[in-house]
Amino acid sequence: MSAARPRDSHTGFGRWVAGACFGLALGAPMQAAERLPGPPPTLSERVAAAPDPEVGRSLMAALGCGACHRIPGVVGAHGRVGPSLAGLAGRPYIAGGLPNTADNLIRWLLNPPALAPATAMPDMGLRPEQARAIAHTLLDDND
Ligand code: HEC
Repeated sequence: MSAARPRDSHTGFGRWVAGACFGLALGAPMQAAERLPGPPPTLSERVAAAPDPEVGRSLMAALGCGACHRIPGVVGAHGRVGPSLAGLAGRPYIAGGLPNTADNLIRWLLNPPALAPATAMPDMGLRPEQARAIAHTLLDDND
């Protein structure tokens, strides 16, 4: 009989521990979600955020612009079909005669044949935010 007491109190403690654990199990993931940084942002999330030059370079690498252009900072971008994009920011004109403004560059990237029907640069199917990020990189780069 007297042996029942310690077991009872043990069970009580066990219940308390189980309850506390259950509470922690529920609470911990919510706290962790607030505190821990999420997975690293995807390229499209980085494009949607304020563009940094690295975003444009990643896009140009992913889109294969380097098959036709030499592009500083983009691995494997040694193409010679089109002009080198090095020092683009310092050129007064792009694509033979368009004043080199951010707007014209973005329009060009979105649809080159619409501005110069005979151009060898194809419409690469860029989304506007991708064209903006690339233009930002090319105009940021002064080498
Ligand atoms: C199939 C080859 C090809 C691909 C792929 C290509 N381009 Fe071009 N690009 C050209 C050619 C050719 C020109 C020259 C056009 C002209 O003057 O009519 C050009 C011109 C340009 C210009 C104007 C440069 C200047 O100084 O006149 C920019 C900027 C440019 N391309 C960026 C890009 C970007 C960014 C990509 C990838 C999204 C890309 N190109 C993909 C062939 C290509």
